[in-house]
Order: sequence, then structure tokens, then C-alpha cells
Amino acid sequence: MASTQAAAATEQAPTKNPTLLAWVAKMAAMTQPDRIVWCDGSEAEKQRLTEQAVKDGTLIPLNPQKRPGCYLHRSNPNDVARVEHLTFICTPNKTDAGPTNNWMEPEAAYTKLSQLFEGCMKGRTMYVVPYAMGPLGGASTKIGVELTDSDYVVLNMRIMTRMGKAALDMLGDSDDFNRGLHSTGDVNPDRRYICHFPQDNTIWSFGSGYGGNVLLGKKCLALRIGSYLGREEGWLAEHMLILGVTSPKGETTYIAAAFPSACGKTNFAMMIPPKEYAGWKIETVGDDIAWMRPGPDGRLYAINPEAGYFGVVPGTNYKTNPNAMETISKDTLFTNVALTPDGDVWWEGKDGEVPEELIDWQGKPWKKGSTEKAAHPNSRFTAPMSNNPVLSGKANDPQGVPISAIIFGGRRSNTVPLVLQAFNWTHGVFLGATMGSETTAAATGKVGVVRRDPMAMLPFCGYHMGDYLQHWLDMQKSIPQLPKIFQVNWFRQDKNGKFIWPGFGENMRVLEWIVNRVQGRVPTQETLLGWVPRQDQGLNLNGLDLPAEAIQEATSIKEDEWKTELKSQEVFFEQLGTKAPEALMLQRKLLIARLDG
Ligand code: GTP
Ligand code: MN
Ligand code: MN
Repeated sequence: MASTQAAAATEQAPTKNPTLLAWVAKMAAMTQPDRIVWCDGSEAEKQRLTEQAVKDGTLIPLNPQKRPGCYLHRSNPNDVARVEHLTFICTPNKTDAGPTNNWMEPEAAYTKLSQLFEGCMKGRTMYVVPYAMGPLGGASTKIGVELTDSDYVVLNMRIMTRMGKAALDMLGDSDDFNRGLHSTGDVNPDRRYICHFPQDNTIWSFGSGYGGNVLLGKKCLALRIGSYLGREEGWLAEHMLILGVTSPKGETTYIAAAFPSACGKTNFAMMIPPKEYAGWKIETVGDDIAWMRPGPDGRLYAINPEAGYFGVVPGTNYKTNPNAMETISKDTLFTNVALTPDGDVWWEGKDGEVPEELIDWQGKPWKKGSTEKAAHPNSRFTAPMSNNPVLSGKANDPQGVPISAIIFGGRRSNTVPLVLQAFNWTHGVFLGATMGSETTAAATGKVGVVRRDPMAMLPFCGYHMGDYLQHWLDMQKSIPQLPKIFQVNWFRQDKNGKFIWPGFGENMRVLEWIVNRVQGRVPTQETLLGWVPRQDQGLNLNGLDLPAEAIQEATSIKEDEWKTELKSQEVFFEQLGTKAPEALMLQRKLLIARLDG
């Protein structure tokens, strides 16, 4: 049986790549699917898979008058977010994975997961999904192949990556591709593993159907394996949006920004500036991941490896993010939102009246006023980036865009001021390394506790965090024209727990200051934390309906809060042990000296 499967895999394959064929045959022999389907990425294939997914209940068609080409998917209620405690980095030595990752010895992990994968696709179809991360033909672009038994995964990968024949053509006969194996299994959290084998460029994911765990190109390849490859090859794989901001004079500045999950990347990347900014334009290159490497002109160039957006739905509306609303108006897959009686989707924070009755994300009747949320807080949309009205013309450019500024930001109800600029690269790396953020629904676990999240990469770094920070420090030697580094916080709260800064489009005011600093146009004021906007010639607050005291509070630096903060940072650095980079320890000492001085 198994050998017949293996033979079949080779016979129908639209490739002669010997390494790929041998691997597919081996995985098929283990998982024993009834059928093997090589995905070509065509429109006909999409239709066929969609029809099948509707028939088997995986997708619910939405009202084509309201949302043409859109579908709703309900995941298992025990499977709604990334599972960090079940995510493993499998390196020969535990120290290579570092103290912030779960670790398994590679052979032990292969053995353990083989038992789960053994025969798991009996009666099912194995899809072979070749895909490219990055524009086709680009020097930074990487090829992956995901084997999966989920049609939902195939349809999502089709939106999120350049999937199918083109990717297979780009691979040719090379053996340089990521080997991804996924089975939804029985969706039992006790039998769920997301394992990364950086040395083998391999990912095995079992027992989940949730995006971040199963769309293997995204967090698994583009960040965990990507960061490992980046260190070996001298580039950076980061949890960052990329945007272009063009001034009325036509000058475009490209910026990358790292915020933790559910902390505003997609919103910032698609922002519409307030009316005071007529003539300014924001364009999206990417909303979640940036691959950055030094370019021939000495600047740092970034590409977005993805082709779609897997975005947080709740809170999205025409006031906060009109471009996202347009993006998800057609050809979008919704996961775990609520269904309206007329076949549209609904979520908390959508425009308009709350409907009287809905079907909630678990498929149960829901009535207005219910204490339960109708949409899951981590419900998501999967939409092609080509739907985005402000997609940058550079999003498909294999060269990428030159980055002038890097922003680090977390969700902090206190302590961190609205914006500051690092004194230099090393200090900027310190700001990134000491990022903290209050946890959100994007990962399972308690929501609202501050955890250290260096560069928003804590859940996504594929190797030792200390080595990662050292890699960031080392990169300055290969980038003659270093981007300037900034820190922001949109989430400071007042005594009543209300956000002080209005955020969203109004973040343009902070962005303009950053652009002005990068272009060397505005003076600044030094503080113990970094450079901040001056009272005069600082932030443009024209037309902003916010009392002076609120601005004062959002930008304030309180020494007592910083003493607490330093203690929490110390715990994190201690965790890194001898791998805590010396340069960052010195930055820490300097900050303590400034605070005590
Ligand atoms: P991932 O896709 O999980 O990596 O998250 P993300 O960083 O793209 O977060 P996203 O832009 O989807 O925002 C997540 C949540 O933050 C949503 O509920 C937004 O409404 C909220 N948010 C985004 N920007 C702002 C802002 O400027 N101010 C405030 N108060 N909330 C914001
Ligand atoms: Mn993300
Ligand atoms: Mn996002």
C-alpha cells in the first residue's frame, strides 16, 4: 500500500526534481493518503477546492451580494490561536534554541511526531503545495513545499503566498526548499505539535487547523526558520510591517515597524492620514513580515515575503481602518467571525448597529446584549494583498525597498512614551531588545500581562535570543547607511483605563516626525531614554482634538515607572545568561546611570 502511494506520487508529479519527489514519496509512505494532488495555483483548482470545502462543511459561502467570493470558516473551539507551549525548535543542542523557546532533540521529535503522522491521512487527500515566499525570481525569495491534508490550508496558502506552478518552476531541480508537513489530525490539544528543524529546513505541524500553526510559509518559515537562515546568511527576518510614506513634495520614505501580535501592524501599514495631511500618502508593502538585507548601495532593503494578509478582524471598521474594510470586501476567507441572518459576517467593533441576532463563531445562536463575544477575539481574515487600495507598487519588486527608519512598539498602558528616537544603532537595538507588551488574544494564555518581547520576535525567533540580539548588533557593520531606530507606544492609558492617544490615522503625526528626523529636518530634545519631539517644532498637532494635559501624559517619562521597568528588563537579560550581548549590558548601565544621576 505505502509503496504504491509513493509510486503514484512520483508518476503524477508535474516536476522531475529528484529531491522533491523522493521526499513527497517518503512522507506519503508515512501518512498513507488515499490520493495525492499536486497544486498548480490555477483558478480552476481554486474553484474545485472551494466547492469541495463547501460540500464538506469547511467553508460556508457568504451572501454574494454582500461579500462576493467570500467564505466563513469555523475552527475547532480548542484551536483558535497560536500555541506557543506546543511550538518547538528542534536543534541538536538545547542551547541553540535558547531559553525562550521550547526545545526537543531532533531525532526524538521526528520519532514522536512520526507516530502521530503514521497513517494519519488514510482516507484523505494529501495536497502538495509548492509556494514562494517573496516575489518570484527574487534573490531574497525562498521556496517551500507544504504537504497538507486540509483544503482550508491550501485555499489560505493560495492567498498568502505565490503558490503553485510558478513556485515549482522557480525551484527547478534545486534541493533548496523548505519541507513542510501538516496534518490537522484529530484537533486534540494533547496531540498537537508545531516542530521546527532549522538544520533540515523542515517543519512538522500536527493536530491544528489554526493559521499561525498550519500556514507553514508564514510564522514557521518566514520567521522561525527565516531568522535562523538570516543569521547564517547575513540578513534579518522580522515580525515587521513595511510602509512607504510620500510627502506632498513627492518624497517617499520607507519604514519598517515591529509590534507584537495584535498590536497594530496591519492598521499602521494601511493607515489613512487625517485631513490635515492632504497630499500625503501611505502605501503598504507588507503588514506582518519583513526580510531585510544590505543592498548594493549600502542601504538596508526589505521585501514582504507574503502575498496576502492574515489580519485580526475585531475592531476593524471604516473609522479605524477603511483600507482594511475595502480589502476584505471580496475574495476573502473569514475564520471565527459571526454570521448575520442575511449571510454577511459580523464582529465586535464593526461599523453600524449591533445586530439583534447572529450565529456566533462557534455556530450557536447569539442575541444582542449577550455577555459572550459573537466573534472570537482572534478571528481573522485572509485576503489577497491585491485587494488593498493602497498597495505599494513595490510590493512585487524583488529588490524590495530601502528602509530609512525602524520602529519598535508594544502595547503598554504606562511607562513607555508616545515616541522617541534612539541615540544610535546600538541604543536602538537595546530599545528593541527591551520591548515589553501586554499579552493579547493572538496566542493562547492570559491576556493583559506585560511580557518581554524583544523586537516582537519572542514567539518567532528560531534560535537563541541572545545570539539573535548579537546578530542585530553585528548587522551594523554590513549596512553603511543605517536606518534610524525609533520606539512608539499608541496604548498608554489614563486613570480610567481609556487610551490617551487616539491612534490609527492620527499616528500619522508621529510618523511625520519620524520622517522629518530621518530627513534631518527637525531639531529634537534629549531625554534619559532617547530623543523626543520638542514642545516647539515637535509633533504637528493641528486639528487634533486632544487636551494639552493628555498629550503631556501620553509623552511623559516617569522615573519611578522606569525603575520598575529596569527590574523587569533585568530578569529578561538574566535569562539570556552569558549570551546577553555585552553592548546591551553597557546600554543598560548607561540608562541606570542617567536615571540615578
Ligand atoms: P498580528 O497580525 O497578529 O501580528 O497583529 P497586528 O500587529 O497586525 O495588529 P492589528 O493591526 O491587527 O491590530 C490589533 C488590534 O490593535 C486591533 O484591535 C486594533 O483595533 C488595535 N489597534 C491598532 N492600531 C491601534 C492604535 O493606533 N490605537 C489603538 N488604541 N488600538 C489600535
Ligand atoms: Mn503577526
Ligand atoms: Mn496583522
